[in-house]
Amino acid sequence: MCGIVGYLGDKQAYPILIKGLKRLEYRGYDSAGCALLNENLELKVYKTKGKVSSLEEYCKDKDVSGTLGIAHTRWATHGEPNDTNAHPHYSQSKNLALIHNGIIENYLSIKQMLTKNGYKFQSQTDTEVLVQAIEFVKTKYDCSLFEAVKRTLHFVIGAYAICVIEKGKNDTLVAARKGSPLIVGIGEGDFFIGSDATPIVEYTNNVIYLDDEEVVLLEKGNRPLINTINNEEIEHDISKIELELNDIEKQGYPHFMLKEIFEQPKSFDLCMNGRLNVEKKEIKLSGIIDHIDKFKQCNKIIITACGTSWHAGLIGKYLFEEFCRIPVVVEVASEFRYRNPVIKQGDILIPISQSGETADTLAAIELARKKGAFIYGICNVVGSSIARATDSGTYTHAGPEIGVASTKAFTTQVIVLTMMALSIGKELKTITNEKYESIVKELCNINEKVESILEKAKEIEQISKIFTYARNFMYLGRGYNYPVALEGALKLKEISYIHAEGYPAAEMKHGPIALIDDEMPCVVIAPLLKTYEKVLSNIEEIRSRKGKIIAIVTQGDKDIKNIADMCFEIPQTEECLTSILSVIPLQLFSYYVAVEKGRDVDQPRNLAKSVTVE
Ligand code: F6R
Repeated sequence: MCGIVGYLGDKQAYPILIKGLKRLEYRGYDSAGCALLNENLELKVYKTKGKVSSLEEYCKDKDVSGTLGIAHTRWATHGEPNDTNAHPHYSQSKNLALIHNGIIENYLSIKQMLTKNGYKFQSQTDTEVLVQAIEFVKTKYDCSLFEAVKRTLHFVIGAYAICVIEKGKNDTLVAARKGSPLIVGIGEGDFFIGSDATPIVEYTNNVIYLDDEEVVLLEKGNRPLINTINNEEIEHDISKIELELNDIEKQGYPHFMLKEIFEQPKSFDLCMNGRLNVEKKEIKLSGIIDHIDKFKQCNKIIITACGTSWHAGLIGKYLFEEFCRIPVVVEVASEFRYRNPVIKQGDILIPISQSGETADTLAAIELARKKGAFIYGICNVVGSSIARATDSGTYTHAGPEIGVASTKAFTTQVIVLTMMALSIGKELKTITNEKYESIVKELCNINEKVESILEKAKEIEQISKIFTYARNFMYLGRGYNYPVALEGALKLKEISYIHAEGYPAAEMKHGPIALIDDEMPCVVIAPLLKTYEKVLSNIEEIRSRKGKIIAIVTQGDKDIKNIADMCFEIPQTEECLTSILSVIPLQLFSYYVAVEKGRDVDQPRNLAKSVTVE
């Protein structure tokens, strides 16, 4: 949440900052701002409520010259989204400007101390407290900005990725992180800062990933100097970013979300590449091969995640229990971290995360590690905090996901979980060879089936137009498709702002059926699986209460087609893989409903991708 970008070099900073902010806008879009040091070494701050385009408009007649600058796009935590609360924040003397992603938890006590020392505050943010505190320390100890940042962060509790610049010093930028992401790009004679690699990739592939409680001093002509807040000098290897510019552009699609839905076959190829051997009909995941004994000996697996990734985790439970016979519990990370969960030595925690930065999932990892669990992560973003906090894991390699609503991340997470369950099940001999080979073969063919669904996107678009009137939706599914019902409902809520509930189909009778009337559309995921007949009865129950039914069925289905108001066919596949196919029409449905309602699909209200605050 919140995107930060910085530049120090010989080029004009402003265009680089604006382009970077546009790439990071998915992380928050309540307000935007930048700070620049011009030729006269004056420190200028420009900021405004709204999106990056509003900032550009605001800056049209301003002096935006300078080769050092920092910029921010905000997702509000402390203080409403307005011009004053927007970042950057000046210090009292206006000598320092700072941008921040995260939350300073003890900001009130620091504020009290600063107020006693004569400091006055303009905004309601925790961030302004931080920049004032740095100035206070700098003045008190008469030290450099780098030293002042280290000393200040000593008494700061919370999460931060920050960048600070100083009036009169157009060759120095100081940045630091703890719990929020921050990457330093090393160009030819210049430096870049980004919350992720997207603002940097155009200029350099060489980056340094800072670790928690590290502060970096970037000075023109010098190598980056990295210290911990305890003053230990740190050397980091330079890493390469594996990201193509094409991956982070819309490439002709009206929205990133639609691009990412249509990109799923490519993402599946990347996810299975080198892991699934079509000829030998076998799966090789290096993380699982290296740690197979841990899985053989474990008593239980705990899967933890948030939102869409948690839905993938629920499918993981079905997979591991069916094919590995290992007990699995699936936990929402924000609940898990504050309970006192039973974790024994030898248990395995599988955190799942697209961004690899979700604060609650990171905290769940720390808790489980302390209690002795082995941590095996499933992440999309290479080098992310969660990827680095795990003992081992498997990347989904879905490619960058920029639309706020998660799509290809979900399906690739399910593919990774399937490959893991099959690999472990084979070793444990809890899956027959026939079943293993049949699922592997089906995984090899899955893309043809996905393509055949995407080719029929227009059908979904037509169906969506009929239902934009609805204020509430019910999504029902069973078995592997129950988490798909949750996911379909979440997709609709977050981008079209229509209330939707996901339920296990048979659970409907225990309460939610009271909601059904002729204005309540029900999306029923009803492919030809072992519970088909049961779902058919659930559909009859809805019909007899005049509910409208949109059914996702297997190609050639007759019975449900006869009773549902609308049907969308998906190809037949192995039961454990149906979720990969059945979720795609639901992704498309929510997309088209949102477009029809004129919603901001890629940047829905109140949301941000990468939830780095709890
Ligand atoms: C929904 C969505 C969120 C994320 C959740 C976890 O479309 O994107 O629910 O799934 O915030 O994020 P990650 O997977 O990055 O940990």
